[in-house]
Amino acid sequence: MEKSKKLLDKLFTRGREFLGVEYPILGGAMSWISEATLVSTISNEGGFGVLAGGNMPLDLFKEEIRKTEELTDKPFGVNLISIAPNFRAQLDHVLEIQFPFIIFAGGLPPRDAINKVRKTNSKMICFAPTVGIAKQLIKMGVDALIIEGHEAGGHIGPVSTSVLAEQILPHTTDVPVFVAGGIGSGLLMVHYMMMGASGVQLGTRFAVSEESIAHDNFKQAFIKAASKDAVPTAQFDPRLPVIPVRSIVNKGVEDFTTLQLGLLAQMERGTLDRKEASEKLEEFWIGGLRKAVIDGDVEGGSLMAGQSVGIISEIQSVKDILADMIDRGIKESDRILGLVDVCDD
Ligand SMILES: Cc1cc2nc3c(=O)[nH]c(=O)nc-3n(C[C@H](O)[C@H](O)[C@H](O)COP(=O)(O)O)c2cc1C
Repeated sequence: MEKSKKLLDKLFTRGREFLGVEYPILGGAMSWISEATLVSTISNEGGFGVLAGGNMPLDLFKEEIRKTEELTDKPFGVNLISIAPNFRAQLDHVLEIQFPFIIFAGGLPPRDAINKVRKTNSKMICFAPTVGIAKQLIKMGVDALIIEGHEAGGHIGPVSTSVLAEQILPHTTDVPVFVAGGIGSGLLMVHYMMMGASGVQLGTRFAVSEESIAHDNFKQAFIKAASKDAVPTAQFDPRLPVIPVRSIVNKGVEDFTTLQLGLLAQMERGTLDRKEASEKLEEFWIGGLRKAVIDGDVEGGSLMAGQSVGIISEIQSVKDILADMIDRGIKESDRILGLVDVCDD
């Protein structure tokens, strides 16, 4: 076991140094869920919590940063969604306070936002859902990437995590790369790290943690769900592009279909333009997620979840989730080292 701990330690080195934490395991930002308590707990327990800027008005956003800082003296990040209405206000604030870790989500971030962060000492991490975007982001000067695959919960890209890992990890040495999407335990963590990842990001598993503020109905729905129940939404017409969202099938998903068809009909009649229709689709998800997470409406609300939901069978504390990730990681490292020993015989 000593050797396997050493192996895991070696695999953790780059991510650990970049993030300044014990375990390079990010608790991915989840709108409505990743607030001060969950974020600070993840960081206090040795991981890296990420506060979700989501659609938060500036005052609330400032307050959540302040509260998180009160609850932990460990590093954590803030996640800003570049297509969210309050993106510019949130960005101005984190630039002003020189917040140490800024994570941009929501597609390729605006170039001026990247340039502004580059002028500060803040570390900038961006999501890459394709190999093309990963290359572009590195050229633009980001400090690290999160490659997030199709298996993830919430808004998703087109390519599976394993394919992204194969396309990006062996060829990207300039910046640390963290892998997200479909990771439920320390087993996959070790394998992605052996392929060159500096760490991993999990969302779905932390949503069901004891410290997550999500309603108990929301957590129970996750515990009951199988991986096949977390499916992406469909797009019906290229005139109204839909960023797919992976969530557990319920009436909310049917409502989204009805909304999309209704908006398309309005666009056809000329009573709504494409921009307004796209905004209404995004509003649906923000409102739907709140309904499920805060109000516990697991039928009408949105149960954004990744395929790893099928691996979750109980509510655990953040401390236990991280301990389990490490324990599973050590066991897998041990198995790998055993294989190497056999080759030495
Ligand atoms: C309920 C939920 C809400 C999410 N909200 C956001 C968000 O606001 N911003 C973001 O960048 N990613 C968001 N994500 C993605 C997570 O940060 C993370 O990358 C993803 O969950 C990782 O995949 P996994 O679910 O398979 O662990 C969300 C995911 C879930 C499950």
